[in-house]
Amino acid sequence: MKIKFLGHSAFLIEERDIRIIIDPFLSDNPQCNIAPETLDNISYILVTHGHADHIGDTKHIAERNNSDIICNVELGWYFSSLSLKVLPMHIGGIKKIPFGSIKMTPALHGSGIKVNGIGINGGNSNGFIIEVSGKKVYHAGDTGLSVEMQLLKRENIDVALLPIGGNFTMGIDDAIIAASLIEPKLVIPMHYNTFDVIKVNPHDFKAKMNSTKTAILDINEEIII
Ligand code: NI
Ligand code: MN
Repeated sequence: MKIKFLGHSAFLIEERDIRIIIDPFLSDNPQCNIAPETLDNISYILVTHGHADHIGDTKHIAERNNSDIICNVELGWYFSSLSLKVLPMHIGGIKKIPFGSIKMTPALHGSGIKVNGIGINGGNSNGFIIEVSGKKVYHAGDTGLSVEMQLLKRENIDVALLPIGGNFTMGIDDAIIAASLIEPKLVIPMHYNTFDVIKVNPHDFKAKMNSTKTAILDINEEIII
């Protein structure tokens, strides 16, 4: 399984001919120069919640690739209204995909969608556990630290993608507690330094993580697990 960081909370997961993109915030990300047109053969687009820095280029990528969008029911209503293909699910649910499954997990955050300057209901914010060929990646979405995370220890997570930027999500110290509850084999920090308000040094996070391995990825950098 290949995991590529596309900046902010956006990741591309590749295994065999399955290509999954999560929270594809690309063209409006000031730190990222990846054009959404360069992303081909995207089977699934996973969206954790309705905020613009997560929906990002979902419409554009879905239209170009005929991708299925996996998201909560309420976000699904919104994407369906744009004539996009949606596979709606909700927290606790598991959806089978070729070679694996997607499970929706809770997140402590909002999910409203801003349409023409007006907020509409985007349901509950969530995270995902993506299991492909026996490897499990947990994408936390935007969230504060929660006691629910201790249940993730039972999932035997290989890689946890955790927000560390603070202000809108947990910051470094709470993300360290989250990692201690989840006990993944590897943590990759996300949702930091895109904007001034979420500026932190990911190396402070890495230095404070004692028992869990941490990988700080540059935009466009990938790892194979
Ligand atoms: Ni958000
Ligand atoms: Mn966000």
